[in-house]
Amino acid sequence: MLKKPKFSLVVIGALLLLALAAGACAPAATPEPPAPPPTDVPPPPPPTATPVPDHSAFEAAVAGNAHNQYSVEHGPNTWCTRCHSPQNWDPEAFQGPPPSCFTCKFAHEEEMRVAEGNPFVSEEEWVGVPCETCHVVDENGYVTPGIAWLNPVSMDYVAVSNSTELCEKCHVTTTGNAFGSAVDHKVTLGGSAHLNYGGFIGEVPPPSFCADCHDPHKLEPKQCVDCHEGVTTSDTHMKGYNALMLDKLTCMACHDASGLDVGPPPGEDGGPWVTQETSVGRAGPTTEFVLSHSIVYEVACDRCHFEENPFELVVLTADGEVPEPPAEETTG
Ligand code: HEC
Ligand code: HEC
Ligand code: HEC
Ligand code: HEC
Ligand code: HEC
Ligand code: HEC
Ligand code: HEC
Repeated sequence: MLKKPKFSLVVIGALLLLALAAGACAPAATPEPPAPPPTDVPPPPPPTATPVPDHSAFEAAVAGNAHNQYSVEHGPNTWCTRCHSPQNWDPEAFQGPPPSCFTCKFAHEEEMRVAEGNPFVSEEEWVGVPCETCHVVDENGYVTPGIAWLNPVSMDYVAVSNSTELCEKCHVTTTGNAFGSAVDHKVTLGGSAHLNYGGFIGEVPPPSFCADCHDPHKLEPKQCVDCHEGVTTSDTHMKGYNALMLDKLTCMACHDASGLDVGPPPGEDGGPWVTQETSVGRAGPTTEFVLSHSIVYEVACDRCHFEENPFELVVLTADGEVPEPPAEETTG
């Protein structure tokens, strides 16, 4: 259920080997004299054309995904393309002086700003994140089995041992380095429920790498309930309070391991509670949704049902008990 069967890889591998073998058998530069026609052996059957791998489904999936959508707001310039379109990256590109340090167009601006140091990349030139960023592509243009990262500077492939290592070539945080190349995109997998969780009960190990949940081509993730179907109909989940809370909270509002704040979705009128963060800027505090990828099993009820909670939820202890009233209140 977690992984697609690997036989398709094997089939593709076999086909590629066949294709290579066919290539190796192609006429050499100095042709040998033709062998005398065999007399007693029946002629071999005419060679059947090696079927080429059909990658149209992958091409379709990748074509419309977030990795391949050109947008003038997302920095189509030779600096930002390092991750947004690695084959358009110019390692010599640099951040220009303010106020137009990067070539881009903000929604509030009428015209494109073109910055010194990182020229504009037009939609025609822009490559996006193509197959060869993540797979070795052979001389016939076919993706070979397995994953690898194409270093856009040396144009050499770098081995990666799993999908997380591949995704993290771009989904990284680079703030605080000496070059001022500040982006903050690291997705931290954590929490004991999935990662490094050895004691799973079923036959399928929990997802541990990016591509265990995200289709690496469409990029869409599997939702929690796709794998945990039973939870929605369980009468024991949430200590028996599924009926009261299931529709009112996202799974991560309770199972987040990273200690984020939780509450109604900021900026929206209702909807299930989400993980979020409040930061104080010059214009006052702003609360934003923050995605958590860190999952734990234990859930403390008093994360929300704490004393004097602003949501007017009934007060409960971490274990979901009604707290003992404080001594002074009972004695009056
Ligand atoms: C180190 C790789 C890297 C570089 C360099 C980079 N980006 Fe990104 N960018 C990403 C990734 C990865 C995402 C997706 C983040 C996510 O959704 O978590 C992203 C998302 C974005 C988004 C979508 C909104 C958001 O924040 O999620 C915008 C806009 C954007 N980048 C603009 C830029 C601009 C402008 C530059 C150049 C100043 C730039 N990026 C340089 C990797 C990079
Ligand atoms: C962002 C990286 C990325 C890009 C771009 C990408 N792939 Fe993949 N691809 C992966 C990963 C990761 C896997 C392994 C998935 C897994 O672990 O099940 C994979 C698996 C595959 C497989 C094996 C499928 C299977 O069922 O085992 C094929 C074939 C493939 N990709 C073809 C393509 C083609 C063709 C393109 C371009 C149109 C492409 N990929 C673009 C990351 C990528
Ligand atoms: C070559 C760099 C690169 C690699 C490798 C890469 N990504 Fe991305 N990814 C990006 C950038 C850049 C964006 C933001 C695109 C934008 O918003 O313009 C992004 C966006 C995304 C998004 C956000 C979609 C959305 O709707 O906000 C997901 C999900 C994602 N990537 C998953 C993955 C996964 C999973 C892998 C590994 C299989 C991966 N990426 C590998 C650069 C990369
Ligand atoms: C691709 C399938 C898959 C997805 C998607 C998935 N999980 Fe899991 N999860 C598993 C498996 C498999 C286990 C191990 C279950 C076991 O103990 O056998 C697990 C374990 C857990 C556990 C610990 C259960 C226990 O009995 O110890 C929790 C909690 C959990 N997942 C929550 C989530 C949440 C929340 C999400 C969504 C963000 C999610 N899962 C998404 C497959 C998945
Ligand atoms: C347990 C399953 C799971 C795993 C493993 C996982 N993701 Fe996700 N990811 C999700 C789900 C579910 C969402 C959508 C959350 C939502 O709808 O708000 C998501 C959303 C995202 C987004 C979109 C963020 C946005 O702002 O919309 C990015 C980018 C992303 N994941 C990258 C990654 C990367 C990179 C990895 C590996 C380091 C990874 N994910 C591993 C389940 C997973
Ligand atoms: C109101 C908080 C809350 C929400 C929301 C929540 N859970 Fe749970 N979940 C719990 C509690 C409590 C436990 C039991 C662990 C404990 O006692 O600390 C649990 C246990 C689990 C387990 C272990 C198996 C089991 O049934 O005990 C899985 C898997 C799980 N949750 C998945 C999910 C998924 C998927 C979602 C979203 C549909 C979700 N949870 C939403 C509170 C919550
Ligand atoms: C992430 C926040 C959160 C956590 C953690 C949480 N709850 Fe809730 N709880 C809610 C929300 C939101 C409601 C729905 C209030 C409403 O009806 O609008 C609710 C409703 C309830 C109610 C109905 C009474 C009321 O206050 O509205 C009970 C009982 C309850 N929760 C018990 C629990 C128990 C037991 C746990 C621990 C297993 C728990 N909750 C954990 C957010 C949470």
